[in-house]
Amino acid sequence: MINVGLLGCGTVGSGVVELLDKNLGIISRRTGDVIELKRVVDQDLDKCRALGIKESKLSRNFDDILYDDEIDIVVELIGGIEPALTFIMKAMEHGKHVVTANKDLIAEKGKELFDMAQTHKVDFYFEASVAGGIPIIYPLKQSLAGNQIQEVIGILNGTTNYILSKMSEEGRAFADVLREAQELGYAEADPTADIEGLDAGRKIAILASIAFNSRVTVDDVYVEGISKITLNDIKFARELGYVIKLLAVAKQGEDGSIQARVHPAFLPRKHPLAAVNDVYNAVFVRGDAVGEIMHYGQGAGKLPTASSVLGDIIDIGRNILYKANGRISCTCYEDKKILDVSQLRAQFYIRMTVKDQPGVLAGIAGVFGSNNVSLATVLQTTYGGEMAELILITHQVEERDLNDSLVVLRGMPLVGNIDNVIRLEGMDKI
Ligand code: HSE
Repeated sequence: MINVGLLGCGTVGSGVVELLDKNLGIISRRTGDVIELKRVVDQDLDKCRALGIKESKLSRNFDDILYDDEIDIVVELIGGIEPALTFIMKAMEHGKHVVTANKDLIAEKGKELFDMAQTHKVDFYFEASVAGGIPIIYPLKQSLAGNQIQEVIGILNGTTNYILSKMSEEGRAFADVLREAQELGYAEADPTADIEGLDAGRKIAILASIAFNSRVTVDDVYVEGISKITLNDIKFARELGYVIKLLAVAKQGEDGSIQARVHPAFLPRKHPLAAVNDVYNAVFVRGDAVGEIMHYGQGAGKLPTASSVLGDIIDIGRNILYKANGRISCTCYEDKKILDVSQLRAQFYIRMTVKDQPGVLAGIAGVFGSNNVSLATVLQTTYGGEMAELILITHQVEERDLNDSLVVLRGMPLVGNIDNVIRLEGMDKI
């Protein structure tokens, strides 16, 4: 029997209990032995009782898992840094294998956790930490291990994808859709980490580390959220053949340098990620052998996330039976250079309000030109007043050159405001 100790009876914990109960037969047969939920620890035991877990299995004390030598696998589903970090470290010190869905922990404390797992030759699996039910960590570590991965681009946050989809489909403003997402339970009461891109930033840090075999922490990721996106931006994107998505992008250059960033982006309508709407997530991967692949599905939720947790438990169960634990340890064996976003080249969309009078366009084009910023598209819309809205798309430019231009433009009396600046991504799909 493979004995499991579960930490946490929240949404994902309850999904694990339900799925294990429902599919125990096939899960055990696929593993090669019975998977038994031996102990469940939570501070609020009523939550666990509501799942029908036997009273004899319940405890408020993590030591009841830690000092039970029969427990092989600890499943941490309490989230946050502490006490999850201490519990996981202690579990590994006691020779227990660990499964977690905790992206904050992996993104911030990955090195410490993998070192501990390696020292104690235990398995440490975390498929559910990125994109919930979508298998992506295992594919990157195993199925795609024969490839040089060139890029990983994800829609990794369901809340923001829902908001942008609804703004685009229904022409509703950001604040209005956010309120609805909160009422529907898609967005948290405090949605800052989702809206401002931090949640996706943690997830792409994890994927970049695995894809490029070099540690990328959340502090290495440039992060920008969606709160500045307006219906005007969405309208112009559509007119020009794009959709706006919050993308989490990790790329490796030919010299091995890495870039990792999260920001709203103009994505060509033909890009596979452009069709990913509502709360769905997807991860697009380009490898030198496999070419382009895309993984699509539910990035959060009780049973989709439990599906990933159970997959990890089964894999560790198989390793235990074949005495093969520690088979896949830390894959960050290199120390690659991580580029600052100002060093990157991209195409940009710029929406600005300018005085509608002769010579304005020439003046603005001159500022861009003298900073090495070449323009690809210029659109002007007038609303009948003395100001006009100017939409510009640049060719590939260095981000620092663009920023230098914008500093000059902001100081020009003819320029009312630089309303938004958004990067273009996936341009090979035009
Ligand atoms: N809050 C996340 C999202 C799910 O909206 O996708 C958990 O990572």
